[in-house]
Amino acid sequence: MTINYSERIPNNVDIGSNPTLQRALEHWQPHFLQWWREMGPSDTASTDVYLRTAVSVETKGWANYGMVKMADYRWGIFLADAQPERKIGFGDHYGAAVWQQVPGEYRSTLRRLIVTQGDTEPASVEQQRLLGLCCPSLYDLRNLFQVNVEEGRHLWAMVYLLHAHFGRDGREEAEELLTRHSGDSDKPRILSTFNEPIEDWLSFFMFTCFTDRDGKFQLKSLAESSFDPLARTCRFMLTEEAHHMFVGESGIGRIVRRTLEVMSELKTDNPETIRRHGAIDLPTIQKYMNFWVSSALDLFGADISSNAAAHFANGLKGRADEASYSDHLCVDTTFELDKPNGKGGVTQETVAMRNAINEVIRNAYLKDCEVGLKRWNKSIETAGHDLRLKLPSSRFRRIVGSWAGQHTDPDGRVIDAAEWDRRRDEWIPSPTDRAFIKSLMQRVVEPGKMAAWIAPPERGINNLPIDYEYVHLA
Ligand SMILES: [Fe+2]
Ligand SMILES: [Fe+2]
Repeated sequence: MTINYSERIPNNVDIGSNPTLQRALEHWQPHFLQWWREMGPSDTASTDVYLRTAVSVETKGWANYGMVKMADYRWGIFLADAQPERKIGFGDHYGAAVWQQVPGEYRSTLRRLIVTQGDTEPASVEQQRLLGLCCPSLYDLRNLFQVNVEEGRHLWAMVYLLHAHFGRDGREEAEELLTRHSGDSDKPRILSTFNEPIEDWLSFFMFTCFTDRDGKFQLKSLAESSFDPLARTCRFMLTEEAHHMFVGESGIGRIVRRTLEVMSELKTDNPETIRRHGAIDLPTIQKYMNFWVSSALDLFGADISSNAAAHFANGLKGRADEASYSDHLCVDTTFELDKPNGKGGVTQETVAMRNAINEVIRNAYLKDCEVGLKRWNKSIETAGHDLRLKLPSSRFRRIVGSWAGQHTDPDGRVIDAAEWDRRRDEWIPSPTDRAFIKSLMQRVVEPGKMAAWIAPPERGINNLPIDYEYVHLA
């Protein structure tokens, strides 16, 4: 179905045919806009940005590019087309018809899943609010704003479901999504990663590479849901999400490339010398990765989880790419899990597969993360250096699951508290590292120019040159 831009709220779900729903969403819209002005990207009331806007939900050619006044961006409600005769793909209701309405017995659980996903979307906009003031180039500034408007739209996607399917409770939850704020001591965002400040662009690229990738896997799991409107919503969100990970992965790749240039110019791998020349040494990049990946791993939930088992059994949330598995019931299979044995070692526990669904999705996520690492390591290898960037062990620095509160090094070796205290600055960013990275964050806005710590991208946006004026600052 094509997207109707003539209505106050652009949509492809014919909200005009449901006046009550339309009124409720039109009531929420000014609250959203007020939130965007107060909590969205700073100082952008009269900024024009070269943005893509969704114009259809077809895989080919779904977006339009053009200069848009950011404050006038048209956020809307877009669902992927329904798949006729779609059947439930996993769990106890396997093979039955999918649901167009929320079954009463799953109402509160589904609402919780939607609210939790919805909460992350505006949270990331809040986290990234000030980054525009220290962007490394206009190209990057444009990408930041593109990610921000799309996260705003993802909030719309979840709010539509709440309004359309959860009555008054849903409308109240939609309001709450605008009153919790990232890092707020009274009303923080629901998940801890989304309360971490993102004050520099190295963190931003790590976040879009690794935290948005968690988003990808959550959306993939929800795209399997038996509740069809949720599945269709998430399927379309995934097409937008791909760009966010591109921003992160290519951003880190460009930082690595610039570091390697400086290393070869100066013929050194000494971090201090590299830093003095305004580039980011590889060990520091590794530390930021350790920080953000370990935080993202918690977002998948506990490794042994009766909630995850229930979501799977009831058909509410599947595994990412459910079709790639052969067994969709998982009633008599098991999963081998590494757990701390409480005496400084590791023990294996056999758990029912359904209880290990979070771990299964987490493992798929880690495998997906490796793709970017391979590319960065290839460029390090080609430049003739031995260091390799590496994902931290899924035991490292966890606050959720069996490994919560257990000290390990990034390789997953169990250590005591004293060693952790002594060595943590080798593994995650120290205050000195953070201060150094912050010192690099000077705004560069001359078209085509890049900050000294990052290489230019390989190409511009939508076939435009790299020095195109992607953002008109007022
Ligand atoms: Fe999102
Ligand atoms: Fe995203």
